[in-house]
Amino acid sequence: MSADPKPVASPLALARPEILDLKPYEHASWEPELERLHANELPWRSSGDVTAAGLNRYPEPQPRALVERLSSLYGVSPPEVLVGRGSDEAIDLVTRAFCHAGADSVIVCPPTFGMYAVAARIQGAEVVRVPLDAGRGFAVDERAVLEQSARRAGARPVKLVYVCSPNNPTGNLVEEPALLRLAEALAGRALLVVDEAYIEFSGAPSMARHVASCPYLVVVRTLSKAHGLAGARCGTLIAAPEIVALLRKIIPPYALTQPTIETVLAALEPDRLEAARRRVTLIRAERERLREALSACAGVVRVYPSVANFLLVEFQDASAAFARARAAGLLVRDVRAQPGLGRHLRITVGTPEQNARLVAALAHGSA
Ligand SMILES: Cc1ncc(COP(=O)(O)O)c(C=O)c1O
Repeated sequence: MSADPKPVASPLALARPEILDLKPYEHASWEPELERLHANELPWRSSGDVTAAGLNRYPEPQPRALVERLSSLYGVSPPEVLVGRGSDEAIDLVTRAFCHAGADSVIVCPPTFGMYAVAARIQGAEVVRVPLDAGRGFAVDERAVLEQSARRAGARPVKLVYVCSPNNPTGNLVEEPALLRLAEALAGRALLVVDEAYIEFSGAPSMARHVASCPYLVVVRTLSKAHGLAGARCGTLIAAPEIVALLRKIIPPYALTQPTIETVLAALEPDRLEAARRRVTLIRAERERLREALSACAGVVRVYPSVANFLLVEFQDASAAFARARAAGLLVRDVRAQPGLGRHLRITVGTPEQNARLVAALAHGSA
């Protein structure tokens, strides 16, 4: 007979008490069937306004149609969804709601995406670094994460643990069993925030389906990468409804602009989703071609395997490779400041023509 599952305290026990007590700003009520004389808007559209709803009107906060479409895209329920300006906003909100300035910490696992540490520093939270294990394909060092979180339980407790999967800039997936073990071990102590900005390129299932059974798991998704909508600024945080309700209290009342709402709703129509899937398939094929071609270039020490839309490449001389790409009109990302990546560049998979131009620029270098 299996034992009853241990009762787990609400994740809100970790949140800042003043945010729990906050009475949020009361935005103008959203009642589209009535005419609006309650929000000090102009009653006429400005010339050149091509939106369906009218730019003279404040947009719907947390637009219901958009929340529903995103929840169906990600296979979760609408109360588990918070939509904001890119995943950057999700990272900022969760940091502000859970980390007390000067009192709490977050764990980040470098080399990784820089915004987790920046958001923590802006909020006055301490940043604890637990490096990924380069010898094991940049796996998360679970033991070290749990040790750090246990060690700090008294002073400066760790409230958030960020894991990026697939990780930027290393391109590897963090194995799902490791993430589930971490979420379970951290429950009651810290939230595990899994950033899946590049998950569509990997073909792996999202951790979002575990949110309902793991109240301390937060998953962050974005339309910026696989959906080609970086300029629209639309990201989604998926978490227990009580966490989403808390973050809805602190997100600015009209975070998403009307053009973004309309653009994204159109992009989530079935034919557009199918087109996005086809582009992802193309990028995955190009990634493998580019990986092979770069591996054959003089001066390339190593091209790491990647399940994302970029490749991490170690060069004998990364500055020379960077300069050569630039001379060919191509910007690549210098990641040499990241721990353990002193000779590395991150290269986004481009069009077949761009990839061929890059390879031609690097092919004969002694870089
Ligand atoms: C791992 C990761 N997370 C989040 C983001 C930010 O994405 P968004 O455009 O949704 O703010 C990026 C952008 O490069 C990223 O690499």
